Parts: sequence; C-alpha cells; structure tokens
Amino acid sequence: PSLSEILNLHDFEAIARMVMPEKAWAYYSSAADDEITIRENHAAYHRVWFRPRILRDVTTVDYSTKILGQVSSMPMYITATALGKLGHPDGELNLTRAAANHGVIQMIPTLASCSFDEIVDAAKPGQVQFLQLYVNKDRAITKKLVQHAETRGIKGLFITVDAPQLGRREKDMRMKFDAEDPAEVTENKQQDRVDRSQGAARAISSFIDPGLDWKDIPWFQSITKMPLILKGVQCWEDALEAYDRGLAGVVLSNHGGRQLDFARSGLEILYEVVRELGARRGLSFPNEKFQLFVDGGVRRATDVLKAVAIGATAVGVGRPFLYAFSSYGQEGVDKALQILHDEFEMNMRLLGARNLSEVVPSMVDASSLSAH
Ligand code: FNR
Repeated sequence: PSLSEILNLHDFEAIARMVMPEKAWAYYSSAADDEITIRENHAAYHRVWFRPRILRDVTTVDYSTKILGQVSSMPMYITATALGKLGHPDGELNLTRAAANHGVIQMIPTLASCSFDEIVDAAKPGQVQFLQLYVNKDRAITKKLVQHAETRGIKGLFITVDAPQLGRREKDMRMKFDAEDPAEVTENKQQDRVDRSQGAARAISSFIDPGLDWKDIPWFQSITKMPLILKGVQCWEDALEAYDRGLAGVVLSNHGGRQLDFARSGLEILYEVVRELGARRGLSFPNEKFQLFVDGGVRRATDVLKAVAIGATAVGVGRPFLYAFSSYGQEGVDKALQILHDEFEMNMRLLGARNLSEVVPSMVDASSLSAH
C-alpha cells in the first residue's frame, strides 16, 4: 500500500508484518512469555473515557510542551528501541531525521545499530536528543559513554532499570541471530562469547549489569550533570524513592511488555504514582521538578491526552516508528508523526482544551484505574 493509504499508527504494524524479514519482525514485535502485558498496554487505555468541555473557543489549539526543559511540538517522544538496522539500512537515522522535521525528541538507545556519534551527527543544529542507558558491568565503559553523551549535548539520561536480565521473548528466541546481521552492534563486538542461538535480544544483552542497585545512583549523579531519569519504574514506592533521591523523573513502563509478563500498564502505574506522591510529598502533576513519563501501547493522540490528563509530562512511543521505517524508510516516520500532529489538533478541539494546561484530571473518567 502507498503511504497515502495509511490512516493511523496501527496501519504500519499490519504492513510491516507483511513486508519485514521474519527475524526483524520477531525481534520488534515480540513480548514476554504469554504476551499478556503487551495486550494490557493497549487495554488499559480502553478503560479510560473522556469528559470533554464545550463552548470554548478552540479556533486555535496548542499542544506543544517542554520535556526536561526542552521544547517539544507535542507531549510525545520517540522512545529507545534497539537494532534499527534490522528493519531498514538507515536504522535509527530515519528517526533522527523525521524527529527534526516534526520538532519531537528522540531517545537514542545504547544498543542502536548506528553508532552514537552517527546519530548525534545526523541531528540538525539545536535538535534535542536524549540517551537511554544500559549499564555495563564494566563501569568505565558506562562512564565514558555518559560523559561523551554530555559533551555531545544530550539533554537527558534515561537509565533502564527494568532489565537486569532480558525477558523471555519466545517469538524472538525461535530465530537465530546471525553474526553477519547488519544490526551487529558495536557494544556486541566487545563481547568474547555471545550466544547467538536464542534470538536477537539475548545475543546483544549479555553486558548488562544485573547488580545495578539504588546504591549506584549517587555515582551517576557524580559523573554527569544531565537530568537523570529511571526508565521502567512500576510502582509508587520506587517512584517515591527516585523523587527522594533527587532524580529528575521516572518512566512508568513495562518495556513494551517485553520484560516481566503480568507487569501492569504504565497508565495504571501513573494513576497510582500521582495519587501516592500527591498524598505523601504534596506534589501535583505534571510537575516540572519531577516529571512522570509513560510508555507502552500508545498509538493515538487520545492515548497521550489521557496520560497527560492524569499527570504525565509526556509519553513515549516505540514500535509504530520501527514499523513505519521498516516499511517506508524515513518517509514512514514522517507520516506517523504527521498523523499524530493531526490527531492532536483534532482531539484537543473535541476535548475543549486550547493548550495542555487545560487537559486536566476532570477531563477523564479514570475510575476503572483506581479500582486496581
Ligand atoms: C524496546 N525497548 C527498549 N527499552 C530500553 O530501555 N532499551 C532498549 O534497548 C529497548 N529496545 C527495544 C527494542 C524493541 C524492538 C522494542 C519494541 C522496545 C522498550 C521501549 O523503550 C519502550 O518501553 C516500549 O517499546 C514502549 O512500548 P510500545 O510503544 O513499543 O508499545
């Protein structure tokens, strides 16, 4: 199908499934165990309903925002997803270029197929990028990457905390990860013995340190001035700890359903975190000093607006952009972002919200979330 026939972000998935190499499809689409959490990531949004307001002049609406102090054209960022070249020869650069065209922020993954510097070099002057960090058992490697990232102007460091071990993604495990894969990553080349018999995820992840602990947080705070965010927080207790330790925020996420099956959706966790940090620390959200992010299953601007109403600063989107560039290259990502822009414009009007500060808790009925 031609790009003009694409109407929404779901469409990219159906096309990618038809056109992508089986191995790449398996890696991008897979999730843990029985894939219950990945389904719940969508289902949770279906339980939240809108309470729109009427008779407000919505001739012009503005859904731009600031994420960690950086301007973003919408309350959405492109989250980190590894191995971009499995889907397209330009890999992550497709995301960098489209992000520039649409004024959105890209989070660069540690396990990108393109080198970190290539991805930063591909950015336009002033374009904002974040870095997702997998912490290496060899802290000298991690320190070097973090400090290099800061020198290169990265504006936020997202430390992944939900992957002490990679989840069991059986669809992916049935595929052999080929040594000649174009997706072979630099980090990987430093590994002496890599098990290639169990899919892409396992082949690339053996350097990640399962010993990572709260005790390490002061060390990160000592080696960089970038805002530090924990990616993969799943309950209010850990969000509170992150706040008390002076971190800049948390991503409430189950890693796209790829880690612990039966983990809750980010939206459920968001509801709980807003309530408990409000009660215990008097915080209100969205909050500039401690920002809440959510990812997993977001496919529509209405999904994003639900999370924003509940208290998220912004929401991460992963797979749709992978599917978009795997099927259509950079143009696919441009189209996906244009669709989101159009959806925001329309749904802000239909909600009766002229800017994001008018997207408030009373605009959603989230009572089904509080029941959990
Ligand atoms: C991911 N995700 C991820 N997260 C991370 O911290 N480091 C990583 O290297 C990756 N790699 C990765 C690869 C692929 C193929 C996927 C699908 C996901 C998780 C990602 O950042 C995010 O949490 C989810 O993708 C969000 O869910 P959706 O939008 O894909 O449903």
